[in-house]
Amino acid sequence: MRMSGARIGPSPEILTVSGDGLLPYVPALAQLRITVFRDWPYLYDGDPAYEERYLRSYVDSPRAGVVLAIAGDEVVGASTCLPLTDETANIQAPFVAQRIDPARVFYFGESILLHPWRGHGLGRRFFAEREAHARRVSTCDIAAFCAVERSVNHPARPVGYVPLDAFWRNRGFAQATGMGCTMSWREVGATAETPHRLNFWWKSLTGAALS
Ligand SMILES: CC(C)(COP(=O)(O)OP(=O)(O)OC[C@H]1O[C@@H](n2cnc3c(N)ncnc32)[C@H](O)[C@@H]1OP(=O)(O)O)[C@@H](O)C(=O)NCCC(=O)NCCS
Repeated sequence: MRMSGARIGPSPEILTVSGDGLLPYVPALAQLRITVFRDWPYLYDGDPAYEERYLRSYVDSPRAGVVLAIAGDEVVGASTCLPLTDETANIQAPFVAQRIDPARVFYFGESILLHPWRGHGLGRRFFAEREAHARRVSTCDIAAFCAVERSVNHPARPVGYVPLDAFWRNRGFAQATGMGCTMSWREVGATAETPHRLNFWWKSLTGAALS
């Protein structure tokens, strides 16, 4: 996956939207997710109907936030977050299993950026803005996200691909040992959905140790 490239204009405007403020951006966000997640490591053959439903859950979650990167009139990147209590049961379950109250957790959904805009610090900004949003709208003391698990020998893995693990560690996140979930989607070239394992990463928002 290429992560850096020539910038195609001045730095995008960054803004965080919530609730109905998200509605005008839903079609662009759905397309952005489909475009970015079609690549390694997600290989997601996007379904616009699913995207609308998924993004609706952010509109309907009053404390959710979506950080947008807007260049001109184009949404070139986005990053999502919401209280874990507003997420689906399969994402809450690993926390409940560890006896962690989901009310303590702000869940970071995804960060997606079009290729030409990568490598210029927007990914770092997405993390900073989401943490700021979580602190603004909640008393959650944990931020968490999950990422798809892929074999290093997977035939679709691009030559020279650098995993994002170091980037996430540099943002203060650690892999939450033994915590994962399963999500199903149809991969590019497949005829049916298949289950995919995702692993959780987390970070204390207070500096307290997580175990
Ligand atoms: C994740 C993503 C948003 C990061 O965006 P970005 O703007 O390129 O990130 P930044 O410019 O802020 O750089 C982030 C880090 O990546 C590093 N990096 C730069 N080029 C890289 C490359 N070719 N491969 C891997 N990491 C690279 C930077 O050094 C930086 O690390 P550091 O701050 O820890 O030193 C972007 O890569 C993306 O959209 N990826 C595809 C979707 C995805 O997998 N999202 C994550 C799961 S939802």
